Amino acid sequence: MTQPITHSLDARYYTDPEIFKIEQDGLLARTWQFAGHGSQLENAGDYFAFEMAGESLFCIKGRDDVIRTFYNVCQHRAHQMVSGSGTTRVVVCPYHAWTYELTGGLRAGPNVNAVEGFDKSKICLTEVRTEIFLGFIFVNLDNDTKPMDEWFPNARKELEEWVPHFETLKPLEWVEIPEKCNWKVSVENYSECYHCSLNHPTFATGVVKPETYDIKPQGYCLRHTTECQNLKDMTYDIRSGFDHYDQYSSWFLWPMFSFQVYPGNVLNTYHWRTIDTDHVMMYRGWYSMDGAENDIARQLAVQDRETTVEEDIHLVESVQRGLKSRGYIPGPLVIDPKCGVNSEHSIMHLQKWMREAING
Ligand code: FES
Ligand SMILES: [Fe+2]
Repeated sequence: MTQPITHSLDARYYTDPEIFKIEQDGLLARTWQFAGHGSQLENAGDYFAFEMAGESLFCIKGRDDVIRTFYNVCQHRAHQMVSGSGTTRVVVCPYHAWTYELTGGLRAGPNVNAVEGFDKSKICLTEVRTEIFLGFIFVNLDNDTKPMDEWFPNARKELEEWVPHFETLKPLEWVEIPEKCNWKVSVENYSECYHCSLNHPTFATGVVKPETYDIKPQGYCLRHTTECQNLKDMTYDIRSGFDHYDQYSSWFLWPMFSFQVYPGNVLNTYHWRTIDTDHVMMYRGWYSMDGAENDIARQLAVQDRETTVEEDIHLVESVQRGLKSRGYIPGPLVIDPKCGVNSEHSIMHLQKWMREAING
C-alpha cells in the first residue's frame, strides 16, 4: 500500500503571531525547558534569573543542596524578586523587604505581625518543577508533567555511555546566535541532514560521514546517529580513550534543546529561546573538564561557528523570507521508507508535534 504524501507545514505556522502566542502560552509552558547548568549554582544561596515562556523565573540552591526554581514574583504585591545572578543568605524583595527562605517560604516582613491572623507559613514563592539531567537544569511550568526519563526514554543512559565524564564537565563557552526566523525553522533545520552535503562541506567531509547519517524518534527525542569521517580526513584528533569515540550522536529533546556529542566524545549543546514570531536566539554550548581551557573543544567551537552555524543562518533566514511569499505552497516532504540522510522523516515527526502543539 502506498503511503499518502506528507506536506510540509502551512506557512502561517511560522509567520502568524497568533500561533506564536498559542505556543508561548501552551507548548512552552508544558514542556521541559533548559534553565542553566548546575555548576552555575555551586554554593547554597547561589541563584540566577532567566526568562522562559514569557515568564521570569529563578533557580536557587538551598542549604540542603537541592536546586529549586521559583517564579520571580513576590507574594506580597508582585514585585520581581531577583535579577541577574548572585548569592544571598535569604531572598529579599526590593519593594517592601519581605524576606523568603532559600526554600521559598516566607520568613519575615516589616510589621506583618500587626495583621491579626497573619500566617506566614501559608505564604511561599511559587515553585516550578525542576529536574537535574546529567548536571543540566531543566524546568517545566506544568506541575503534572511526566519526568524527563519518560519524555525521552533511554536518553540519559545513552548519554552516560557516550559521555562517561559528564560529572566533571562544565561550560567552556555559550555563544548566542541571533537568527531572523521563527524558532521552528531553526529547529527543523537542525533536525535533518538532507541539506548537509550541499551546505556544510566542513562538517560533511571533516567531521561526519553523511552517508551513514540517520535520525530516529525515541519518545519526544530525535536521536541522530552517524559515523565519524575517515580518520585521515578528520579536522581534529578524536582519540579520547572512551567507547563510541568514532561516532557522532545527538539527542534533540523536543522542543528546544539538544545534547550533541562530536567524535572524540566532545559534548556540546544547542538550545533555543523564542523572541517573537520572526526571531529566535540559538545558543551553542561547549564543555570541558571543570570548564578548563581545552584546545580541541575551543578549536571545534570556532570551526563550528565559522562553518556550520554561519552556513545555517543564511539557510534559515532565507526560509523565513520565503514563508512570507504569496508564491509559496508547502511542498511534499521527502520521506524515504528506508530513512537515511536524504530523507525528511524526522521533519515529519517534528511537524506532527508542532501541529499537536497548536491544534491539540
Ligand atoms: S511586593 Fe515584595 S515586599 Fe511588597
Ligand atoms: Fe545545517
